[in-house]
Amino acid sequence: MSTPPKGKLALPELAAMKQRGDKIVMVTAYDAPGARFAEDAGVEIILVGDTAAMVVLGYEGTTVPVTMDEMLFLTRTVSRAARHPIVVGDMPFGSFQVSDEKALENAIRFVKEAGADAIKLEGAGPMVSRVKTIVEAGIAVMGHVGLTPQSATQLGGFKTQGKTAQAATELIDGALALEEAGAFAVVLEAVPAPVAAEVTQRLTVPTIGIGAGPDTDGQVLVYHDLLGLSEGHLPRFVKRYASLSREIRDALEHYAEEVRDGTFPGDEHTYAMPEEELELFRSSISPSATSVNDHAKEPTMSASKSLSPAPESEPPVRKTSSP
Ligand code: KIV
Repeated sequence: MSTPPKGKLALPELAAMKQRGDKIVMVTAYDAPGARFAEDAGVEIILVGDTAAMVVLGYEGTTVPVTMDEMLFLTRTVSRAARHPIVVGDMPFGSFQVSDEKALENAIRFVKEAGADAIKLEGAGPMVSRVKTIVEAGIAVMGHVGLTPQSATQLGGFKTQGKTAQAATELIDGALALEEAGAFAVVLEAVPAPVAAEVTQRLTVPTIGIGAGPDTDGQVLVYHDLLGLSEGHLPRFVKRYASLSREIRDALEHYAEEVRDGTFPGDEHTYAMPEEELELFRSSISPSATSVNDHAKEPTMSASKSLSPAPESEPPVRKTSSP
């Protein structure tokens, strides 16, 4: 049996892992169960990504619409459940582009209101000063270069970045500038493997790749993609480790079928009451109500089912929001 992890992973441990050549595992999560699964799998970093827009909130092909309030809500649910992994809140479009001050205000909200351990923001260039300002205020920042989905339109769509010599050089410069500004790690998304390898070699902080080949210091995948919860076309870099959408569909169809044919709920899912209490109950209700009820129930519920005493081990009563 593995020993449970103790306390929060210290941020400098990520740089130490890079030094040792230990791969860093990052995955996205958007709720408490997802965070618990990720923690139990031993991941180092949970990203509450703005991919939530697509995989949770139902926007198609864009991360742009997700708001600060939505991201704070989701991050809070993850922070509540993740004890060991570092929780990174992803700053949504519009929350950091306007100015360094606005970016800092919103980064503070992630830490103070949502319990994030760090934030991530997309881009280099003008965004480098945002990173510097937030880091100087004492908040850990993860950078993100390559394909930055918030500016996908400007980049010509969801396309591999850094494919020309010039673009690759600019990408490396951007990553170096983010490190210089104090970023503790940099995500490289949809970048040719040799370019990602070069960035990884040049940076002292870890690189986390997604569609960036095998030589980055760590990897990240979107929870719904790797579990097979996302349906339809997925980028080449996604590997599906399960087919949960199929399982969920099958389970829901089976449930609907059993409700319709009366197989569910069975005796084992049904509460009974002591015989004498049932007698008392029956005699305490008005004869007219009894006869109406009896008539109503006769065709669908057998006497043995409705009158059976409580089974020896009752199924536990789960707390619900109903009174
Ligand atoms: O929002 C997100 O999930 C991300 C990852 C794809 C890195 O930014």
